[in-house]
Amino acid sequence: MISDSTRARFAREVAKYPAEQKQSAVMACLAIVQQELGHVSEDSERVIAEVLGMPVIAVHEVTTFYNMYNQQAVGRFKLNVCTNLPCQLRDGNKALKHLEQKLGIAMGETTPDGLFTLQQSECLGACADSPVMLVNDRAMCSFMSNERLDQLIDGLRAAEVK
Ligand code: FES
Repeated sequence: MISDSTRARFAREVAKYPAEQKQSAVMACLAIVQQELGHVSEDSERVIAEVLGMPVIAVHEVTTFYNMYNQQAVGRFKLNVCTNLPCQLRDGNKALKHLEQKLGIAMGETTPDGLFTLQQSECLGACADSPVMLVNDRAMCSFMSNERLDQLIDGLRAAEVK
């Protein structure tokens, strides 16, 4: 399930480091797998471990440390709401609860239509802008009041229907 072209992309990343430090390419290889398959499976971790000459558990530690790596399939829109302490003090949990109610799912779940996955996030480095969230690991959304959350969800849904 890891194609030759994926292995070629791994090799390009590995070539950026001294031969004895090829494990330094682990994050790049995980990102490649996720880009191509949508998530990082245990099988993919095994292949990366073999390519980089490192223990599978060491690859898994990286996958599980960063919540940008998906350990299972996620919806079209992955929503990560920051609930670390500074954000908890400024309505981060309220934003998460509001999204749970609006989407009809609990944190960690995906809507039945496969559109939204809702997750918690560690500090996004924008505590003063709380509530904050990331969409698909890229788009940062700040000051997410319930009204702004509703606009975001409705907008993403509408864009997907078009
Ligand atoms: S604690 Fe939420 S952005 Fe820092």
